[in-house]
Amino acid sequence: MEKQKGRRLLLMPSPLQGHVTPMLQLAHTLHSNGFSITVIYTSSFTPPHLSSSYPNFTFLSISDALSELEASTSASDPVHLTRLLNVRCVEPLKQCLVTLLKNDDRVACFISDAALHFTQSVCDGFKLPRLVLRTGGASSFLVFASFPLLREKGYLPVQESRLEEPVVELPPLKVKDLPKIETRDPEAFYEFVVQFVEECKASSGVIWNSFEELESSALAKLRQLFSIPIYPIGPFHKHFPEGSTSSSLLTPDTSCISWLDTQEHNSVVYVSFGSIASITKAEFLEIAWGLANSMQPFLWVVRPGLIRGSEWLEPLPSRFMENLGGRGYIVKWAPQEQVLAHVAVGAFWTHNGWNSTLESICEGVPMICSPCFADQKVNAKYVSDVWRVGVKLENKLDREEIEKTIRKVMGLFLFFP
Ligand code: UDX
Repeated sequence: MEKQKGRRLLLMPSPLQGHVTPMLQLAHTLHSNGFSITVIYTSSFTPPHLSSSYPNFTFLSISDALSELEASTSASDPVHLTRLLNVRCVEPLKQCLVTLLKNDDRVACFISDAALHFTQSVCDGFKLPRLVLRTGGASSFLVFASFPLLREKGYLPVQESRLEEPVVELPPLKVKDLPKIETRDPEAFYEFVVQFVEECKASSGVIWNSFEELESSALAKLRQLFSIPIYPIGPFHKHFPEGSTSSSLLTPDTSCISWLDTQEHNSVVYVSFGSIASITKAEFLEIAWGLANSMQPFLWVVRPGLIRGSEWLEPLPSRFMENLGGRGYIVKWAPQEQVLAHVAVGAFWTHNGWNSTLESICEGVPMICSPCFADQKVNAKYVSDVWRVGVKLENKLDREEIEKTIRKVMGLFLFFP
């Protein structure tokens, strides 16, 4: 019965953690406001537990025709994966909409992740209004929307020799802050960005998991560039009580909360680089020694796949954790919102994915920024230089630099406990 509420909304997330979470949070809010919800997801990324976390939603799978190998590139090359989805899902989505629209005349609109730009022409074919959810911030989107200009002015592709130059058209960014991503075809990244921005402009409106007070300047500029409505209605996770829903594709290890309970207020450094970023073994060891040498307690998410060429913790020297005398705790996946809200957590060393950045801001946890790719560099620049709620770990991952930065950030609590 619950599945038949008011008018129906069809939502299609991109199948990556940082995109699924905000889409389901948005769906939850819309459902609470009286809408019926259908979530359309692609067949290679079937999260079996999600439908039980959201029993009031209808979940529908469409074929993405990805081989196992292609699906497994999602972590190493998300641009390539997204490009494949934009081609392979066209016909399956059309067939799905034929059935859905025949059987339900109450469908109000389609809400698509911005990355799935193919959905605009599919929706146009059915005269179905399409809204876009942009899961990243507005400030980084403004940079994506400026890609043609950045190329014309010679900032793109990024040249190593110009990294410290200011991007005068987009203050306070420098060339080194511009989005970059490792992909088999860098030109494809440029084309993908231009296309998803164009299809946002062609939509009926863009929803942001952000808020006016945080990104007023970027939102104002986007309103000038776009003739469609813009809805900064985030932060989504604050629309409902903490823990009332879960959209985690991996199972969080909640034992870390009991460990946090034993630590002093504001003493723990929480370390996580999100669901996609990966590091080398050498970088992993620099992080491990930097954390150990800082003498600060730490909770570290080492996701299987984080260290290139390793299953999990094999590169760690033997007895490394034991020798810390309980000062460190490692999990494969954490209940991050709960961790950031915990009184023991004093800093978040993050890759500045937009969700992590927003969650940290909402809990008032200062950040140590190590952006890896895409929008993360822009987010980190805003965190350190505009919102001034974190510091950037400027150079390559180096144990002494890490130790110094952790001590600096944690030292602030001596003055502002
Ligand atoms: C990706 C891109 O990397 C990011 O730049 C873009 O802004 C969104 O898509 P991801 O790398 O996963 O996302 O980072 P982020 O946006 O921070 O999303 C990670 C989500 O996973 C957060 O909501 C976080 O709370 C959650 N998480 C992370 C956990 O629940 N447990 C963990 O251990 C780590």
